[in-house]
Amino acid sequence: MYVQHCVCVLFWLCVCAVVTLLSGELSSDGTVPTVPSGENRAERDPPSPPEVRCWSPSYPFKALCSWPEPPQTQLPIQYIATYSMKGGEIQQCHPYPTSVHPLPSPESSLPGVNGSSPWARWLCVLKGLKLYTSYKLNITGVNRMGSASHLQAFTVEDIVKPDPPVNVTVQVVPGKLSLLVKWAPPPSWSDRTLFPLKYQIRYHWDNKGTPHEITLDPFEDTKKVLPRLSPGRSYLVQVCSMELMGLGQSSDWSLPVTVTMPAH
Ligand SMILES: *[C@@H]1O[C@H](CO)[C@@H](O)[C@H](O)[C@H]1NC(C)=O
Ligand SMILES: *[C@@H]1O[C@H](CO)[C@@H](O)[C@H](O)[C@H]1NC(C)=O
Ligand SMILES: *[C@@H]1O[C@H](CO)[C@@H](O)[C@H](O)[C@H]1NC(C)=O
Repeated sequence: MYVQHCVCVLFWLCVCAVVTLLSGELSSDGTVPTVPSGENRAERDPPSPPEVRCWSPSYPFKALCSWPEPPQTQLPIQYIATYSMKGGEIQQCHPYPTSVHPLPSPESSLPGVNGSSPWARWLCVLKGLKLYTSYKLNITGVNRMGSASHLQAFTVEDIVKPDPPVNVTVQVVPGKLSLLVKWAPPPSWSDRTLFPLKYQIRYHWDNKGTPHEITLDPFEDTKKVLPRLSPGRSYLVQVCSMELMGLGQSSDWSLPVTVTMPAH
């Protein structure tokens, strides 16, 4: 009798505790953190689902997923990151904080990272991805109090985002009111023969306090002449890259290069 009563009380205590916690912990994307019915849970919480962004700077072979370490984390969080295609075996990607290991591609491909906050982000690399294949991603944060998962389905085509072109140079064409802009493709993009890139240029100038901007249509060459510019005026030039068929997103713009045309 005594034992049964005791089990019953404990059972209801546990159910109540779990229900209370779950009702307070439903996250915005609908994932439900799992909470162990342990002691000591009062002041400390399980992690929130990680806010994951994935992109492919090297279509189709590789994608990166990144998420911030939550601020003011009391309990250390470990992350388990897995991905699988339908009916395929589950593959692991091994998350690491970006301040410890060098990034596999230029820093520019990490959205929101500018070096001001080390340890701010986790990164994991998804390799061997197949074209036009739906993958399921599961990134789960685990601490002593429980776990929470970010679940996402993607095809690598959806998340293409090259890095910006590098080595952008801008020269005045001698004797002409033109600028010659040259650049190199982003080195992180691994196969430009099978999966070519195209580029866009945008240039800005200021005329008596009024800003002007021109963005050229995409083209495949890695140089371009900007014609019919004004003597003595300064131009600010940027280049971005995108997959030739227009998959996914364009890269960020390269850092601006400023050139002033000769007066005559
Ligand atoms: C770096 O990131 C922080 C926080 O997002 C932002 O406030 C700051 O302006 C950024 N600095 C640069 C140089 O982009
Ligand atoms: C996500 O991964 C975690 C940790 O491996 C696992 O416990 C959980 O069941 C997974 N969720 C789904 C929906 O596969
Ligand atoms: C960019 O310029 C540097 C220095 O001139 C050079 O070492 C590097 O190979 C260039 N990168 C590309 C992709 O052309």
